[in-house]
Amino acid sequence: MSTDNNSQENNKIKNKEEQEKSKVKEYTIELKNLTKRFGEKVAVDNLSLNMEKGTLTMLIGPSGCGKTTTMKMINRLIQADEGEIKLNGTSVYDIDPVQLRRTIGYVIQEIGLFPHFTVYDNIATVPRLLKWDENKIKKRVEELLDMVTLDSSYAYRYPLQLSGGERQRVGLARALGADPEVLLMDEPFGAIDPINRLKLHDSFLEIQEEIKKTIVFVTHDINEAIKLGDKIAIIRAGKLVQYDYSAKILYNPANKFVENLLGQDRSLKALTLKKNKDFVSNEGVITVSKDTTEDEVLKLLQKKNQIIAFVLDKNDKLVGRYWLEKAKKDKVEINYDEEPILIEQNNTLNETLSTMFACGEKLLPVVDRRNKFKGIILLDKIFEEFNK
Ligand SMILES: Nc1ncnc2c1ncn2[C@@H]1O[C@H](COP(=O)(O)OP(=O)(O)OP(=O)(O)O)[C@@H](O)[C@H]1O
Ligand SMILES: [Mg+2]
Repeated sequence: MSTDNNSQENNKIKNKEEQEKSKVKEYTIELKNLTKRFGEKVAVDNLSLNMEKGTLTMLIGPSGCGKTTTMKMINRLIQADEGEIKLNGTSVYDIDPVQLRRTIGYVIQEIGLFPHFTVYDNIATVPRLLKWDENKIKKRVEELLDMVTLDSSYAYRYPLQLSGGERQRVGLARALGADPEVLLMDEPFGAIDPINRLKLHDSFLEIQEEIKKTIVFVTHDINEAIKLGDKIAIIRAGKLVQYDYSAKILYNPANKFVENLLGQDRSLKALTLKKNKDFVSNEGVITVSKDTTEDEVLKLLQKKNQIIAFVLDKNDKLVGRYWLEKAKKDKVEINYDEEPILIEQNNTLNETLSTMFACGEKLLPVVDRRNKFKGIILLDKIFEEFNK
């Protein structure tokens, strides 16, 4: 990336900072000079960190640097030795721990679903503790299953009958059960394979756009941190190394440790800050219904001088793709894909670029988490953005 671009980015960051300064900040979680020792070992060392209402803060750092310990101090599963923890201005030590944990949803790495409970009963756990009536609980479970895009037939399955990604979705639904204000998520997607992890990221970001919770999210994966986080807190040996907006960290790493964490390909990683949905286009895009015949599609494509048509069902879900190929002697052939390669709107340009390289397509359809067609993205657009 050129110096010019860097200074442009820096200006953008500065403007954003000034806007931020003029806003009155509402902190949901405030950690002040927090310290926790286990015997001789200082697990968390004089840590101060404020999380604004409705933001997603990523905690990242090497194994054993104190991330889980910090999360557990917030919901009082572990008692801090020194320092203060405030939730909406009140010390957590002045809140009854049971009450506290109801206002804070917790998603842990091993998901922690109750194996002998159905999905329904898992999600209903906290609402039942709160003695909601069963009708209200039923509505809430249905709403949450829909939110994490599991259909209602999942309600009566047991955790062992689900895939890792599905279990993770149920874990998220359960943590959201009684609509807590704060979510603590400790490597929630750590055990999921990369492809399903991308899908979960996408759903998760869309869900957060809807629910705007204050979320603290632990990860080992810098790409995950850049992609999901509004802000990133980098921790090393219990101490805070840098805490800032993702863009600011990418363009101005505080020291060598942060630089190493970001890796060599920082300019590619900058594409991770850009979401597909901001680059989607509908220009010249042809969509047809499931009832359109192959002949009709061919005529339409030739008339509009296009080579691809996307097939949508009545809910605008992408269900197929027609494409023209030059056969011999100027004859064109029409082909059909039942499972076209697609990308999700909240995936990043960086991921889209990898997908395009992997499948050799310069144009891919973009969908939301419910598979609704949103438009297309072009390789040229990504190159343009990269070269800016
Ligand atoms: N109950 C405990 N007793 C003794 N030491 C502990 C205890 N819990 C954590 N520690 C130590 O405190 C340090 C911080 O642990 P913590 O679990 O917070 O790390 P982490 O950043 O979450 O690591 P990881 O990325 O591997 O999950 C580690 O050195 C760990 O061994
Ligand atoms: Mg941990």
